[in-house]
Amino acid sequence: MQAEGRFTLDKSRAMFERIAKSIAGGESSYARLKKGLELCFDRGQGSRFWDVDGHEYIDYSLGYGPLIFGHNPPEVTAAVVEAITTRGSVATFPYDLDYEVGEQLVQMVPGVDQVRFANSGTEATMAAARLARAYTGRTKIVQMEGGYHGFSDTHYWSIHPDVYSDNPAPYSPEPRPSSRGIPPSYGEALLIAQYNDRENMEMLFDRYGDDIAAVLVEPIQANSGLIPPEPGYLEFLRDITRQHGALLIFDEVITGFRVAPGGAQELYGVIPDITTMAKALGGGFPIAAFGGSEEVMGLEARNEVMHGGTYTANLVALAAANVVLRIMRERREELWDRLNTYGARLCQGIGDACREAGLRNIVQGVGPIWHIFFAKPGAPDLDRIRNYRDALAYSSVEIFDRFHDQMLRRGVYFHPYHLERWFLSTAHDERDVQETLEAAAEAAEAVAAELRAEGKL
Ligand SMILES: Cc1ncc(COP(=O)(O)O)c(C=O)c1O
Repeated sequence: MQAEGRFTLDKSRAMFERIAKSIAGGESSYARLKKGLELCFDRGQGSRFWDVDGHEYIDYSLGYGPLIFGHNPPEVTAAVVEAITTRGSVATFPYDLDYEVGEQLVQMVPGVDQVRFANSGTEATMAAARLARAYTGRTKIVQMEGGYHGFSDTHYWSIHPDVYSDNPAPYSPEPRPSSRGIPPSYGEALLIAQYNDRENMEMLFDRYGDDIAAVLVEPIQANSGLIPPEPGYLEFLRDITRQHGALLIFDEVITGFRVAPGGAQELYGVIPDITTMAKALGGGFPIAAFGGSEEVMGLEARNEVMHGGTYTANLVALAAANVVLRIMRERREELWDRLNTYGARLCQGIGDACREAGLRNIVQGVGPIWHIFFAKPGAPDLDRIRNYRDALAYSSVEIFDRFHDQMLRRGVYFHPYHLERWFLSTAHDERDVQETLEAAAEAAEAVAAELRAEGKL
């Protein structure tokens, strides 16, 4: 909890101004910061971090998700320090760590017989899509509106179209580029679907089935808030892709090593042809991977499809992943019991606190990831959010922003964008949960009071 007194971010603002002189926009990844909330980081430990003004926060953003064991986890840090002081950092030769991390990963992730390492989720997804196109000899990849698979020209399409518009264009399978500078022709290799909508997917396969190389999907859609699959939806995707000779790619960059040690495919028992992984795999160090059946990965093994990178499988990343996977395997019961129990309590408690204060909302979560969607005035009476279109129709940016601000002042940080999601780590404890729920109750009351005073509630 923050100390009593005025909450200011003066030092953060001054630092950000200095940074923005040399760093374009003051940050090296879009949407990392929110305009007006240029919070500069000092240090992190466990479930908490401190900004340069000295405020302490319980962290539910966790570096966008990699910090599954919290900030600066001692065993991971020690393994990396030992690796770089005794062995170096980049070798570009095979070494024992390739074997150790590869073997553990293959044992943990059901759909992966063979794997290749990469540096980021963006790279892993690009490689997976190329592999699927090479394997099937087809061009089109189906991806979901409101999904995110990295910022590449090939996938950065239809992420959050019209998110701030009162009159969103109706859904179309035609992709829309989400940035300037993306060649329009790249869109010809994509089709856009609605997550959790079977008829929509059937329509796409009816029309374009012979051209579809793969369906690329976050098995739990985690880039439009947090949207679990409807019962049977992942099985449906498995069947329809198989029927049409297309591959199923699970982008488990967020869900992998998080909703279960073997990711969403372990949790739901649906095995994709190719899996992409990143974030939690490195416990805070930059590593990603893609893998699949021996048959599909055979194209990589025989170098029939190109994947490369100077820094792939570097010693720093593999030393981290090696210990991350070892800890997960050795302590899986205890760690996932903790993540699931605290996740459920927070998810439920935050939603209840907001409802009791009069803020209509839907909270959805799977274990250690969840999100709260606040209803905007006139929002449809939904019992759950099933896809991006629901999120668009239902979500109030204004109420989310106000709640975020009130939570920040009470020492709780989560991503400031209304369609990101909350992450929990194994470092969060009972005290964090208690303080977060107390803060949520106060924050919700404060937001409701503001809205009432303005005649908006
Ligand atoms: C589902 C998903 N795939 C891919 C990516 C891209 O990963 P990276 O930021 O490591 O390039 C992200 C990033 O948030 C993601 O959420």
